Amino acid sequence: MNSIVVTHGGATSVPALSQDGTDKAAATGLAAIAKGGSALDGAIAAVMVLEDDPRFNSGTGSSIRLDGKTIQMDAAVHDGATGDFGAVAAIERVRNPVLVARRVIETPHVLIVGEGATRFARAMGFGDYFPDSAPARERFARVVDALKGRSDDTQSYSTAWRRYDWKKAWNFETGLDEVLGSADTVGAVARDGRGRYAAAISTGGTSITFLGRVGDVPMYGCGIYAGPDGAVATTGNGEDIIKKLLAKRVYDDLATGTEPQAAVDRAIRLFPTDVGIGVIAIGARGHGGGGNRGNPTDFRPNMSWGIAQ
Ligand code: GLY
Repeated sequence: MNSIVVTHGGATSVPALSQDGTDKAAATGLAAIAKGGSALDGAIAAVMVLEDDPRFNSGTGSSIRLDGKTIQMDAAVHDGATGDFGAVAAIERVRNPVLVARRVIETPHVLIVGEGATRFARAMGFGDYFPDSAPARERFARVVDALKGRSDDTQSYSTAWRRYDWKKAWNFETGLDEVLGSADTVGAVARDGRGRYAAAISTGGTSITFLGRVGDVPMYGCGIYAGPDGAVATTGNGEDIIKKLLAKRVYDDLATGTEPQAAVDRAIRLFPTDVGIGVIAIGARGHGGGGNRGNPTDFRPNMSWGIAQ
């Protein structure tokens, strides 16, 4: 079986601005497999490239929460050959959350959250790193402008989120009035020469959330899924993805013989158009991917996603 790595840069990533980043990530993941690594090594190597690229909302480019200083990240890995799943949520001050998620597999747990996740990272030897970046600061400024009514740059948020009165239950120490991005994620799916599948995913979450909010990324079967029949990674509004158990749903389609692009298209059509969604998938019948921002009849060109094989 041929090795393949497919990556995505988030549901609202724009190919003209960041296609080179997802291509580089896919090529790096494939190179890791070519050097003898497993599908899991390939997926993780690909996601690390995206975490280190500040154009994407994960790792160094992670979104800044509305208090203007908090950055909390989620990441997960799923090895389709062994069934191992490891995740971290609301982790702070690490450079590559996906590497910490991988170390969770070595413990009896599947998910470690918040301060416990950050402390776990330190215990595993990951140094202190504040993921502050110019692109994230620019995204934050646009969100603040939108909340102040100076612009309408909130298209990456669903109508329900835009209508919600965030002041009602605000839980940051800094008040909303004092501070008044995008909801994207990066991901990779991989298959190695032995036919093993794996998926990895990482996100900086989104600016307009309460402290401690966790999305689909570390939830089993929601953001990613991998098994003997393929691997899937999703992106978009986490709450909507969770309610549809999206990655497992796409995987089940692959397992029953659906061609990956058809499974991706079917998954995207489950969501109303105001909810940004993207999916990548690989299986025995090939690969597929796309998002719902752009051409409504062909999802494939609507998102930055890379393929290396
Ligand atoms: N899909 C990323 C999130 O909602 O957190």
